Amino acid sequence: MISHERIPNNVDLSGNKRLQRALEHWQPRYIDWWHEMGPQGFQHYHQVYLRTAVSVDPDGWCHYDYVRMPEYRWGIFLAPPVADRTIGFGDFFGQPVWHEVPGEFRNPLRRLIVLQGDTEPASVEQQRTLGQSCPSLYDLRNLFQVNVEEGRHLWAMVYLLHSYFGRDGRDEAEEMLERSSGNEDKPRMLEAFNEPIENWLDFFMFAMFTDRDGKSQLMSLAESSLDPLSRTTRFMLTEEAHHLFVGESGVARILQRTCELMRASGAGLSGDVRRIGGIDLPMIQRHLNFWFSASIDLHGSEISTNAATYFANGLKGRAREETFDDHRALHATYQVPVMDDDRLVTRSVPLRNAMNEVLRDWYTRDAEAGVERWNRILERQGLSDRLRVPSRRFNRKIGIYAGLHFDPDGRPLSAEAWAARRHEWLPTPDDKAYLKSVMARPVYEVGRFANWIAPPQKGINQKPVDFEYVRVEE
Ligand SMILES: [Fe+2]
Ligand SMILES: [Fe+2]
Repeated sequence: MISHERIPNNVDLSGNKRLQRALEHWQPRYIDWWHEMGPQGFQHYHQVYLRTAVSVDPDGWCHYDYVRMPEYRWGIFLAPPVADRTIGFGDFFGQPVWHEVPGEFRNPLRRLIVLQGDTEPASVEQQRTLGQSCPSLYDLRNLFQVNVEEGRHLWAMVYLLHSYFGRDGRDEAEEMLERSSGNEDKPRMLEAFNEPIENWLDFFMFAMFTDRDGKSQLMSLAESSLDPLSRTTRFMLTEEAHHLFVGESGVARILQRTCELMRASGAGLSGDVRRIGGIDLPMIQRHLNFWFSASIDLHGSEISTNAATYFANGLKGRAREETFDDHRALHATYQVPVMDDDRLVTRSVPLRNAMNEVLRDWYTRDAEAGVERWNRILERQGLSDRLRVPSRRFNRKIGIYAGLHFDPDGRPLSAEAWAARRHEWLPTPDDKAYLKSVMARPVYEVGRFANWIAPPQKGINQKPVDFEYVRVEE
């Protein structure tokens, strides 16, 4: 029986019999999926100190306690309605927002929700073995917090499918649990969500760059004319912030530790840090390059009629639409660098067709600001090396640069030059083997940290760093 106790919610679940029945049917399948595809080896006997969303109240929306993960109370929350909200962009600018799905936009809206929903369980699947190589209980807990929240994000999208899309929506909700990351027959829908995440450097980079794509997509959906979609994604953004924190602070702590190890080695700041088990900066840069490029692919093609239609119909807007002056974007243009033979030339594109690129602008600035914060650590440690975000043209699989080759500065390269140099810029089998070797043994002792990462400045929910964030049931 579904109750507020089982499924915390602010959508009057107990007063909506149809929705209740649909969720009662779906929930056991979800739990089966979690057992099978969720964190491996931590399902039965481990109690994890997790936060659970219990309301949308700004100063008390979460509750912290120990919980066995399969018993986590996945809930359904919408941000509070904005009174008299009107459509913020596109052809229907200024009209009242929609509380039901207009028939003519049913298919594209369902597609947007399914695409977003599919990424959520995918990342849980990608990360399912990481607990076996964790650098500390603190990090293990953060991984699981991200995992259960991605599970909740799936619930959020399934709630929309069940509530607004009838039979098709229920079918889509089932299929979310049938596809799986990296599966040959039924893979996840987007490429970055089929990439394996086998070590913690990949995990932190994923949380920094791919969860940040989650943030930009959610921000653009939060602008949607479909009010329930807007309110659902607005609340998801509050959780997404923690995922970005996990990624950014994880890499920051690696950088900190790398500098400490170089100093301790006696070889100084130019020493070979791998000799003493640290993670060197070139390897960190290669992982940054990979995950940034995979994540900007998720924003879609630079020139896109789909993006234009989404914008025109008010389905998906720009991040922070209110900061733009022209909400119809009917006459403006956007300059896109395109390849013409072997030269880059600038082409002027109608702005609506370049909306993916506008979102990518927002994303890139947000990512660059994070990398700048990493660089301040290097600076404080007296290093002259700096990390940087590669050009958006680098290593693309989707869009107008796919199939072409560019260096991290965005300069065109021949296929031969790319093949000769790509190992300098992207993670190598040697990097992966090295990371596997330093992470071979998980650290499960309270308050201890693996050699390759510094402890955090402070713990979670004002608990000390040496708190028992994950404990084994007696
Ligand atoms: Fe998510
Ligand atoms: Fe996330």
